[in-house]
Amino acid sequence: MSSADLTLDALIAWGEQLGASLEAPVVLTLAGDLGAGKTTLVQAICRGYGVHEPVTSPTFALVHQYRAARSPVYHLDLYRLTGPHDLANLGWDDILSDRAVVLIEWPDRADGVLPSDAQVLHLEHVNGHPELRRISR
Ligand SMILES: Nc1ncnc2c1ncn2[C@@H]1O[C@H](COP(=O)(O)OP(=O)(O)O)[C@@H](O)[C@H]1O
Ligand SMILES: [Mg+2]
Repeated sequence: MSSADLTLDALIAWGEQLGASLEAPVVLTLAGDLGAGKTTLVQAICRGYGVHEPVTSPTFALVHQYRAARSPVYHLDLYRLTGPHDLANLGWDDILSDRAVVLIEWPDRADGVLPSDAQVLHLEHVNGHPELRRISR
């Protein structure tokens, strides 16, 4: 596992690079507390991958879909998921069979049903440094 403490600008640049390098199908999970920067990072990854529309938090819809030249992109926020079984109601099987980039906030809510080969990212606050976030993968 590697980790780095990044400013907002650095985190965005890191996310754009990661996005540019992604090859669908891929599932990427982003864990971390509220305000840790998960949505900010998703937005950067989407931009890097080639999503031109604005990427907004799917807190209420739970899932948003975007277009990119290379594949669809799904952004899930599972904060309000009541349990792993609920994933089926989000159309999870269709999402997986769409050969897409799938970005998932709060993956712990769906513990046990996400693909075992998902790429895992963790974000956390850095004590005493409100401008930094620690990113681990
Ligand atoms: N180094 C940093 N990396 C990411 N976000 C940061 C950083 N410093 C400050 N922030 C701020 O923290 C907030 C993160 O919010 P958000 O991305 O919505 O988090 P989450 O989705 O994890 O709840 C944003 O307001 C962002 O501007
Ligand atoms: Mg968020």
